[in-house]
Amino acid sequence: MIKVGILGATGFTGEKLVEILLSHPEVKVTYIASRTKEPVLYSEIFPKFYKKTSIKCQPLNIKEAIDSCDLLFLSLPHTVSMQFVPKILKKGKKVIDLSADYRFKKAAAYKSLYEKEHQDKKNLKKSVYGLPELFKEEIKKAQLIANPGCYPTSIILALYPLLSEKLVKGKIVIDSKSAITGAGRKASIDYHYSDLANNFWAYKPFVHQHQPEVAEILGQNLIKSLTFSFLPQVASFEAGIYSTIHLSFKKKINKNILDKIYNKYYQSYPFIRLGTKIPKLKDVVGTNFCDIGFAVDKKGQNAVVISAIDNLVKGAAGQAIQNMNLMFGFKETTGFLSL
Ligand SMILES: NC(=O)c1ccc[n+]([C@@H]2O[C@H](COP(=O)([O-])OP(=O)(O)OC[C@H]3O[C@@H](n4cnc5c(N)ncnc54)[C@H](OP(=O)(O)O)[C@@H]3O)[C@@H](O)[C@H]2O)c1
Repeated sequence: MIKVGILGATGFTGEKLVEILLSHPEVKVTYIASRTKEPVLYSEIFPKFYKKTSIKCQPLNIKEAIDSCDLLFLSLPHTVSMQFVPKILKKGKKVIDLSADYRFKKAAAYKSLYEKEHQDKKNLKKSVYGLPELFKEEIKKAQLIANPGCYPTSIILALYPLLSEKLVKGKIVIDSKSAITGAGRKASIDYHYSDLANNFWAYKPFVHQHQPEVAEILGQNLIKSLTFSFLPQVASFEAGIYSTIHLSFKKKINKNILDKIYNKYYQSYPFIRLGTKIPKLKDVVGTNFCDIGFAVDKKGQNAVVISAIDNLVKGAAGQAIQNMNLMFGFKETTGFLSL
């Protein structure tokens, strides 16, 4: 049994972490915190936890957090996580950061995207990108995990097999629709119910920070000579990311070949589902699955690859717990039965 804490437990991803971890057989949740001024029953903040836990949400105190846990999940905004990570690592504890603070190896890349100087450059090289389908062995040995962004999870998992096989040429067009919870719990005019209900819109065309994250993780070797166009959109559903990716092949390909390629890469991964059908969002909401489907045109030259995940589960808290399972030697699927 390991002791874990969640910093940022009142946010969307923190709440999802607590929800899944409370029924994880190898975990005791010993510390949760937010910017609350006084300790407050978690079930008072979220009544759905009434009679499930009597834990109190604490005003964040990093020393108490480190002393009471083997592992800390940081469900904090970027630039906040890097204030705490060095202290946690120094005490020999493990940390899974859900923010973007440790996803880039170069501080300059971070600064250009997040417009802040990185405060903990020396630990950037220690971090492992927590996408188990690509970096399982590194995750097992890591002390610091940079949990991936939600869009990058859906995009990288969809593209990785085809890029690894060097089958794609030219331009890749990525159209991703995200649930409103992707933006966090903070209030904003754009995300007011009356604006968002029955509505959706595109944002940050060409400049969204998740496009460089995808490029960083796939690496020059896989993406050289390709160009990407990524258009994120936010829509009025509660959970999920649906990425539709348009691409062209260097040679003639049919669906059977694609089936074989995706199976080769993912058949041993418990949270990737390769259906014969086009994925539907509701099939993955509330689960840690990434559903991937594809269609090829009659000439065998062009394809659409579609992936669907729950942004708060496989795109955040679920993936973080999958990483925890690997770091502590538990079976990768432990704790997901309740989903
Ligand atoms: N939402 C998603 O789908 C998603 C997916 C992947 C990754 N992420 C990343 O995960 C992180 C958390 O996202 P979220 O959506 O859960 O955010 P959120 O709903 O806005 O929650 C943020 C949490 O951090 C706390 N917090 C905010 N500023 C703080 C500060 N200066 N010091 C200490 N605590 C602070 C908040 O506490 P109070 O409630 O007391 O203010 C709250 O508990 C972000 O970095 C985000 O980019 C999110």
